[in-house]
Amino acid sequence: MIISIINGSPRSKGATGTILTEMNNYLGNKEDVTINYIDLSKLDMKFCTGCIHCYKTGTCMIKDDDIERVAVMVKASDGIIIGSPTYGSNISGMLKNFIDRGHFILEQGLRNKKGFALSTYGIADGHQVVKILKKFFLVSGASRAGDMLLKIDFNNNPLLIEHMVKKIHKKMDVLYAVIKSQKSKSLFERLFNDFLLVKIIWKPIFLKNRAKYAGILKAWEQMEIL
Ligand SMILES: Cc1cc2nc3c(=O)[nH]c(=O)nc-3n(C[C@H](O)[C@H](O)[C@H](O)COP(=O)(O)O)c2cc1C
Repeated sequence: MIISIINGSPRSKGATGTILTEMNNYLGNKEDVTINYIDLSKLDMKFCTGCIHCYKTGTCMIKDDDIERVAVMVKASDGIIIGSPTYGSNISGMLKNFIDRGHFILEQGLRNKKGFALSTYGIADGHQVVKILKKFFLVSGASRAGDMLLKIDFNNNPLLIEHMVKKIHKKMDVLYAVIKSQKSKSLFERLFNDFLLVKIIWKPIFLKNRAKYAGILKAWEQMEIL
């Protein structure tokens, strides 16, 4: 099983990175798990220009940075853990840009994968980040397989909080079991994504504008969504 862990914090060794590293170490000890640990701060990443080249071709127009390669790797995973600090009651700008650049959503890039959301925050609104990440998983076709929310003072080490390591391991055991079981999406996820979003809202629009959405239609064909 392949699990991609994405650190959306610009500080690779901050609170978010520390928890994600513990998840990486714990899951990485399981015999059948291969991990892609992706620190967005270490990637060469240009901004999404909104050209919609990806709608037409299924690939990003920007070829001279790391993002297309990493996005392909993430889409090939069985499970995805995304962690972000709370910035202005939202996910980090870096993570938002990665989500836009990876063209995951319309292409259903995380279809039937298991998604886990982690948010750290200092004062308020960490839950908004979890909500945003879970919504991202939902519209990208993934199933939501857990989350973790941590309030922590800036520059403190989360692993020193009592029972924190145990809590992280427990959550990773659940995620591992869900991926292993190949459990299908919940009824709500199927109704919202497979039926409402894909079939009722998007499909008629894409079929009416085949040239504009050729890249998405090709991805859907390969996934037997069409
Ligand atoms: C630019 C910026 C904006 C922030 N906005 C919020 C916020 O809206 N709410 C909050 O509770 N904490 C906010 N924080 C605090 C971080 O979310 C918190 O310290 C987080 O754990 C940092 O994660 P890191 O150590 O992985 O970088 C902000 C921090 C920065 C640097």
